[in-house]
Amino acid sequence: MTADARPTTPDSVPPVDTAHSSGAPALALPFDVEEIERRPIVTERLVIRPITADDSDDIWEYQRLPEVLRYIPWPERSREEAHEHTMRRVGSRLLAEDGDNVHFAMVLSGEPSPTGSGRDRVVGDVMVRVASVEHARLELGWVLHPDFQGRGLAAEGTAAVLAFAFDTLQAHRVLAELVAANTASAKLCLRLGMRHEATFVEDEYDRDAGAWLDMAFYAVLRREHLAARLAG
Ligand SMILES: CC(C)(COP(=O)(O)OP(=O)(O)OC[C@H]1O[C@@H](n2cnc3c(N)ncnc32)[C@H](O)[C@@H]1OP(=O)(O)O)[C@@H](O)C(=O)NCCC(=O)NCCS
Repeated sequence: MTADARPTTPDSVPPVDTAHSSGAPALALPFDVEEIERRPIVTERLVIRPITADDSDDIWEYQRLPEVLRYIPWPERSREEAHEHTMRRVGSRLLAEDGDNVHFAMVLSGEPSPTGSGRDRVVGDVMVRVASVEHARLELGWVLHPDFQGRGLAAEGTAAVLAFAFDTLQAHRVLAELVAANTASAKLCLRLGMRHEATFVEDEYDRDAGAWLDMAFYAVLRREHLAARLAG
């Protein structure tokens, strides 16, 4: 973080306006992640900012683990392939059109990176994807290193990004799509105030496993999110 960076927090947003969601949908796009580089989102334990090339080794520490890949449609990658994948995500910096996505690192304050870089460790990441500009719909995706699961860190980081999606990007609706068997992720959706809206039976085919997957869809509306925050 630069010296003049003023961190944002989910609590420092403008006063909530529960009536706003009844208007015509309009995402606040284009959005360049440079804004979050200048003013990272700071939560109790995490700093959330765009991923960078320097994060590649920290990300590899969890991206290579079978238990992390179990419910994510990523192939097993070599270290070099994983680095290239991270670099593609690093280069994805603008939200403007359907399908655009950006990736934020969840950096655990005071936890040194195992790379010996002296930086705090990237323990996970959160994706924000434009599902529909027309309908002001965003999608979130997340991953946390297993060594740091079970502490509420994913909930803390993704809640901050969810608040960003509604407050800054002005989403009408934020959704998550997951393999229905991914109970840890489903619990996180509910913790975020999302509702289980549907499960599509045998919706995707996992070629590695040779099996059909049921896919679950969770979502929360802006007015529901703001009302929940008002209620504390
Ligand atoms: C999905 C995923 C991010 C959830 O991580 P997580 O650490 O379980 O999620 P949370 O941050 O919500 O933590 C919740 C757990 O921490 C516990 N916890 C401990 N301290 C806590 C605190 N201060 N606040 C909240 N929860 C706390 C909760 O009781 C809960 O435990 P439980 O699962 O036994 O009920 C993680 O399982 C993951 O990365 N999986 C692999 C990648 C993946 O599948 N991604 C999703 C693709 S759709």
